[in-house]
Amino acid sequence: MTESTFIHRFEPATNTGSHPLLLLHGTGGDENDLLGLGKMISPGAALLSPRGRVLEHGMPRFFRRLAEGVLDEEDVRKRAAELGDFVTDARQRYGIAAPVAVGFSNGANIAAALLLLKPDALAGAILLRAMVPLSDPPKANLAGKPILLLSGQGDPIVPASNSAHLAALLSQAGASVTHKVLPAGHQLSQADVTLARNWIGNVAAEAA
Ligand code: MLT
Repeated sequence: MTESTFIHRFEPATNTGSHPLLLLHGTGGDENDLLGLGKMISPGAALLSPRGRVLEHGMPRFFRRLAEGVLDEEDVRKRAAELGDFVTDARQRYGIAAPVAVGFSNGANIAAALLLLKPDALAGAILLRAMVPLSDPPKANLAGKPILLLSGQGDPIVPASNSAHLAALLSQAGASVTHKVLPAGHQLSQADVTLARNWIGNVAAEAA
């Protein structure tokens, strides 16, 4: 597996003090989708943005699903391993540190799976409208990893109990989880951008 097996964009850092971001789009997005969001959240950070390799009626995704909100867990595991390999290869190729994932919807779900299956791949994560990706995840060690989980109060895809379960799962694995429920649906709002920008600024300040 090499990084060339994921179509992707890479933008080098202009601010070397910030974590690289791994941008993971939602269903139907592509490698260009979240570049603007990444720049708003962390200006000058290196941006690594792959396109999901699974197609659902022509729409790129990071893994298969059986129905909306019903994930094909075998495929989640397989695709998370592939994404982990991509990150390892891309880090070598571009000379970057372990990234903080910024995932939206399907991209947030693969980021959550990557955290649980291959914790060393990521330095942390911003999970936007994520759900529990695996019903029986392995025991992961996420000690010290900062994770921001932003959920929508009226999200028709992710019930409140599901996102609360995900926050608990990540905390129990040792991650430092901030979970906020916003007055929003599944789509992102300006509050997501502001909270994510402030959160990553604090993470960078703590790491400095
Ligand atoms: C998923 O399949 O990851 C979830 O249903 C979220 C989505 O893509 O809409």
